[in-house]
Amino acid sequence: MSNNIKEKIDLVAEESKQKIEKSQNISQLEDIRINYLGKKGLITSFLKIMKDLDQSQKIEMGKKVNSIKNNIIKDIEQKKQILSNELIHQKIAEEKIDITLENDQEEYGSLHPISKTVEEISAIFANMGFYIEEGPDIESDYYNFTALNIPYEHPARQEHDTFYLQPNSEGQRKVLRTHTSPVQIRTLEKINIDKEKEIRVIVPGRTYRSDHDATHSPMFHQCEGLVVGENINMSHLKGTLIEFLKIYFNSIELSVRFRPSYFPFTEPSAEVDIGFKKLSDGTLDIGEGDDWLEVLGSGMVHPKVLEGVGINPEKYQGFAFGMGLERLTMLKYNIPDLRPFYDSDLRWLKHYGFLGINETNLHAGLNGVFS
Ligand code: PHE
Repeated sequence: MSNNIKEKIDLVAEESKQKIEKSQNISQLEDIRINYLGKKGLITSFLKIMKDLDQSQKIEMGKKVNSIKNNIIKDIEQKKQILSNELIHQKIAEEKIDITLENDQEEYGSLHPISKTVEEISAIFANMGFYIEEGPDIESDYYNFTALNIPYEHPARQEHDTFYLQPNSEGQRKVLRTHTSPVQIRTLEKINIDKEKEIRVIVPGRTYRSDHDATHSPMFHQCEGLVVGENINMSHLKGTLIEFLKIYFNSIELSVRFRPSYFPFTEPSAEVDIGFKKLSDGTLDIGEGDDWLEVLGSGMVHPKVLEGVGINPEKYQGFAFGMGLERLTMLKYNIPDLRPFYDSDLRWLKHYGFLGINETNLHAGLNGVFS
């Protein structure tokens, strides 16, 4: 074998070693492999010229070329390993999680006191056979006032401090409902009392009046109640409300007083007070003492209201009531100020909020009072 060819082979061997060494990724390595060992590769071309050599030269050159070929294969394999290790390390470095960062404490949500009250009231009335109705917050003048026997010039319209929306093209202004009573009308319009015989609904929901101080918020909550059927009378109203208040305030001794009042949509009407005593630390003891607190409005559904929705007041009577949920909540849980209710301050919620409702605490009042 001529020295010339030997040198050439050595040169190729050296060159391939360096190229493999310098390669930076797997695809470069693959190019190198094809370049040397492929069908038209340099090493392959040496094997091709071997056929013109004599036997001993053939053996000598065959050995040399084969060992170089094996070296190249080995070098490529090794480099491949190095490159893929580097790749893994690089990935690990990039995806590194900094475990020195403080993790956020897991926070539990809590139930807003108003939500808790809605749940409690709903459970109490559900036990008395009531179901829940809802109506829109943006209400027509008709449902909020007129259908409730509050005609246009009626002073009650002024008393409600109504938020009016912009008038439509016909000059009619919608209102943010000032009470949940419009849902009385919507419910009575919807049902067929001759078929139902009797309905019992409550309507917890948002209401709005232009008023803001420690005990008034422009958005607040009410719960309406309505029972209509044959032979419904004032004693049903009294019995239902007394039972409700005793359960809600968890006090079988609770004194309840009905005071004559006036609402355009009920006749007769009564405001309902509960007995309380102011303790030396300023908090209220509900159910004890001789002071009275007003908690809700009520009355027998006015015949005009029934007539307005096509129900014969000679055949059907009903009673209705409405209560402010903020007030009931503040009284039950000793919350002194209404304003933070809607500030979304988590510290306040943590203090006054409730962990989720469960069957036992929800019905504690019922069991506690009547078992
Ligand atoms: N809607 C009345 C109010 O907002 C409360 C009420 C409801 C009174 C139903 C009587 C009957 O003050």
